[in-house]
Amino acid sequence: MIAIKNNEDIAGMRIAGKLAAELLDYITPFVKVGVTTEELDQLCYHYMVDVQKTIPAPLNYAPRGGTPYPKSICTSINNQVCHGIPSEKKLKKGDILNIDVTVIKDGYHGDSSRMFLLGNDIQKDVSILARRLCDVTFESMWIGICQVKPGGHFGDIGAAIQKYVEKQGFSVVRDYCGHGIGKKFHEAPQVMHHGKFGSGAEFKPGMIFTIEPMINAGKYQTKQLADGWTAVTKDHSLSAQWEHTVLVTENGFEILTISDGVKPCPDWIKEKYL
Ligand code: MF3
Ligand code: CO
Ligand code: CO
Repeated sequence: MIAIKNNEDIAGMRIAGKLAAELLDYITPFVKVGVTTEELDQLCYHYMVDVQKTIPAPLNYAPRGGTPYPKSICTSINNQVCHGIPSEKKLKKGDILNIDVTVIKDGYHGDSSRMFLLGNDIQKDVSILARRLCDVTFESMWIGICQVKPGGHFGDIGAAIQKYVEKQGFSVVRDYCGHGIGKKFHEAPQVMHHGKFGSGAEFKPGMIFTIEPMINAGKYQTKQLADGWTAVTKDHSLSAQWEHTVLVTENGFEILTISDGVKPCPDWIKEKYL
């Protein structure tokens, strides 16, 4: 069963989504060569708890009785697909980093992630492959979002993402997906980033879920590290991810995870896919 949120829930989710996006805006200037992901985690923790008065949803999160997640944000570097755990390791020139944040405000969850490219001169310091992977992943998220309107199906999101990503020579991770979200961090449905047009449940106004494609430069298979969380590419290839929380409206969609610093949808995607 996919929940239809009422007006009160939607208002709460708009606030939580904006706070998640603002947390990503806040951390952006600190993402520099030489900083550790543990330092980024601490900065985010204090911004959430002391400034926003939000709760870091990942901290001690333990779905299905697994290992509790030990930090407040996820930081996934290079071949890490998702759920990377902040550590004492310093970021270095040429790294690509996903920061995934989820805040809880008044019981509602806002979930968003962005990619960061490390170096003073991105064109020179980050490989062409890594830059293209991050761009294609961002574009694929937006192509997925553009499928969302009443009458369409959840399968359209995955089908559109997969079609675009595979045409670019990259692969779509199958082992992790987007999800319904609200008072619960993860709820129905599972939002696949691959699949068939016209399959799955129909979009209805008031549904809220994430679209968060993980795209690999090599093959799609992943494995989990012994820490119980970090997912990496099986073939050691680079992986990227972007995430928004999205509301189905009467005419289409509304992005809930927006802020002043959010990166906008490319015009060519609106022209081609809306
Ligand atoms: N924010 C992730 C998502 O997009 C989930 C992270 S779970 C955690 O669904 F425990 F690792 F934080
Ligand atoms: Co997330
Ligand atoms: Co999510």
